[in-house]
Amino acid sequence: MTTRATRLSTLAALAGLTLLATLSACRGQTSSDPPIVPIRNMYDQPRYNPQQRSPFFADHRTMRPPVDGAVAREMEPDIEVATGRTADDADWIPRVPRPVVRRGGGLQGLLTRGQGRFNIYCSPCHGFSGDGEGVVAQRAVALGNDALKPPSLHQTRLQHIPDGQLYATITHGIRNMPAYGHNIPLDDRWAIVAYVRALQMSQAHRAPEANP
Ligand code: HEC
Repeated sequence: MTTRATRLSTLAALAGLTLLATLSACRGQTSSDPPIVPIRNMYDQPRYNPQQRSPFFADHRTMRPPVDGAVAREMEPDIEVATGRTADDADWIPRVPRPVVRRGGGLQGLLTRGQGRFNIYCSPCHGFSGDGEGVVAQRAVALGNDALKPPSLHQTRLQHIPDGQLYATITHGIRNMPAYGHNIPLDDRWAIVAYVRALQMSQAHRAPEANP
């Protein structure tokens, strides 16, 4: 009887130890071995790395160029509207293109939209009136970075740059001014151009010396 009881308790102790060892092995242990995956058919899928060479295509490029003439859905097909340049790329277009004015709800709609967008995107640096005294500009000057203060938009030169050039300045940025082509949608950039023109007209009566 006693030997049997001893044997049983030894077995129980062994089982307990094994369980403990198994459980403790699961606690926070890292392993560099690959995980055991019983069904691998969706685990290892054939693929190419970016820029990898492919024997399959004649030009050996795995990254396929778009088919000739493909146009992204959000791309503006009218070259003047898209770039602010004339179709032959000889010059800036002088005025906000008609299709943009039309789909902006006429000049009034475009100006209202432009005012809102200008106040959001441009006024922090250029000031609400375009005088170049925005809060960012004031702080830049206070910290000694005068080069980051934008010019007044009422300068004679800026009063006379074509609308297309103003649009391109917003789209691509210029020198110390960042580009807004990716942040501000195309029609909104044109709306801002229209509003900047209105701002400039509102101050145009001032003597040139007041708009250095
Ligand atoms: C982060 C600050 C900042 C913001 C925001 C900003 N600008 Fe500017 N902008 C500048 C600075 C700085 C310059 C002067 C760039 C230079 O000459 O180095 C400048 C220059 C310009 C010029 C003169 C370009 C020329 O031909 O000399 C125009 C026009 C202009 N900005 C329009 C805008 C409009 C419109 C917006 C809003 C979409 C805008 N900017 C937003 C900082 C800013």
